Amino acid sequence: MAVLNATNLHKFYQLGEFQIKALNGVDFEVEAGAFVAIMGPSGSGKSTLLHLLGGLDVATDGDVMLTGQAFSELPDHQMTLTRRRNIGFVFQFFNLLPTLTAEENIQLPILIDGGKPEVFQSRVDQLIDLVGLNDRRDHKPDQLSGGEQQRVAIARALVTQPAILLADEPTGNLDTKTGKVIMSLLRRSCDELGQTIIVVTHDPRAAAYADRVVFLRDGKEQETLKFKELKDLSERIRKIMGIMEKMEI
Ligand SMILES: Nc1ncnc2c1ncn2[C@@H]1O[C@H](COP(=O)(O)OP(=O)(O)O)[C@@H](O)[C@H]1O
Ligand SMILES: [Mg+2]
Repeated sequence: MAVLNATNLHKFYQLGEFQIKALNGVDFEVEAGAFVAIMGPSGSGKSTLLHLLGGLDVATDGDVMLTGQAFSELPDHQMTLTRRRNIGFVFQFFNLLPTLTAEENIQLPILIDGGKPEVFQSRVDQLIDLVGLNDRRDHKPDQLSGGEQQRVAIARALVTQPAILLADEPTGNLDTKTGKVIMSLLRRSCDELGQTIIVVTHDPRAAAYADRVVFLRDGKEQETLKFKELKDLSERIRKIMGIMEKMEI
């Protein structure tokens, strides 16, 4: 069954007399344990789509279903709980709390939800281990490199065992080598934890880690690449770049 199901998604912005069609009819389905990348030119609606899928913004038309629950039918407080418990977010600029240590940042979503850290500490430890930050757990964000901060952000996003992890340009602020580390980590979360993941990226080297790449243009799906049989990363990158060239991205 699909974990996430978006149908006929539209998002229009009214700027004075102009209407901007950021999303213009997107259907999108993600199966449990899948890893999907979204690509497209700047302004094609990638972030808008991710925000709608994460319930951070409301669609003009169409609906999103997460684990069988339609967002349009959730009252605001239920949507807040769904976002808190069922959706993990990773952003380009890490968004960690500067006064908290790495470990405290990772514990935060549990505390906000009224959970006891003692009860969840094994999960926190497992994730600190997964992201390889055992010797950095007491460091504050400004004592960590960009890549380490993003690893903390990934662990924080995973700590509630969300139905879906959404990442908007997670490697956008990192060098190529660190970007690879972050993408391999997301790949491992998918393979080892069965985590369902959607990543927005403009980088073909990052998108190659996904099982499927969806290309948007003008707020619509233009093309999809499926990598089921194709394991080789550089082959995948070549295919992605072929489509990017065709779409003039
Ligand atoms: N809050 C907003 N108000 C008005 N227009 C917006 C707003 N957010 C996004 N847009 C417009 O919607 C389109 C899609 O934006 P976005 O989803 O951010 O694209 P992408 O992430 O692919 O670069 C762009 O034309 C952008 O200018
Ligand atoms: Mg964007």
